[in-house]
Amino acid sequence: MIGFKEKVEEAAGFIASYLDIKPEIGLILGTGLGGVAAGMENQESLAYEAVPHFPRSTVESHLGRIVFGTWAQKPVIALQGRFHLYEGYSPEEVSFPIRVLRALGVKILLLSSAAGGLNPNFRAGDLMVLTDHINLTGRSPLAGPNIDDWGVRFPDMTEPYSGRLVELAEETALAERIRLRRGVYVGVLGPNLETAAETRFLRMIGADAVGMSMVMEVITAVHAGFEVLGFSVITNVNLPDCYMPANIEEIIATANRAGERLSLLLEGIVSRL
Ligand code: HPA
Repeated sequence: MIGFKEKVEEAAGFIASYLDIKPEIGLILGTGLGGVAAGMENQESLAYEAVPHFPRSTVESHLGRIVFGTWAQKPVIALQGRFHLYEGYSPEEVSFPIRVLRALGVKILLLSSAAGGLNPNFRAGDLMVLTDHINLTGRSPLAGPNIDDWGVRFPDMTEPYSGRLVELAEETALAERIRLRRGVYVGVLGPNLETAAETRFLRMIGADAVGMSMVMEVITAVHAGFEVLGFSVITNVNLPDCYMPANIEEIIATANRAGERLSLLLEGIVSRL
């Protein structure tokens, strides 16, 4: 049976045969943020289904395409649509695209996601740059035998999100006049939203936003040696003492609206890289 490493290499080899450029910047675009890639020039795309061993996207708001082209004069490769543990994918499957990007020679990874705000100063529609995360999924993409060619057994997590890139994001936000929050993201399994008591707990342990993605991908990316920068669109704010039902249609609509601002910010960052 073909192993995980061979699957990654086959998928990367297949994608490489479509690339005339060698992108060093990779983008992972989450809920409502698929439109971020619209501004890319000379774009070409590949459906996930077309790539050998690539998992398939089951979430409606996610597209399931690999897009490559030039953005802010830089060659980039973007994944529109990601895989979540709550869909039933294993941590290995969720992290598969990250390994493929690394095999393609990508060195800088920019990720975005939707998240619920826990910090009471946040508003729906805010953008947050991640300074750190808490993995509460109870899973790790690194459990099991370590592939030494890819990274070390016990990767250091003192700076999962590159301080240099967080600073660059803040400088870019200032220059583009886009308000950017900073904070800690807590990753949960989902798919149910949090209870009021869970929301209180997540805030107490030091999180500013909660979501159902990011952490598997970022842990994989740190292991693989990427320089990582993460953003969340705050689609709703959860206050345990004034708890309101979250409406999934509203969450997606807010992510779509804020996605335009995030696209502008990401473009500014890519141009400065
Ligand atoms: N909780 C978890 N994930 C989310 C939320 C939320 O409130 N909003 C968007 N993604």
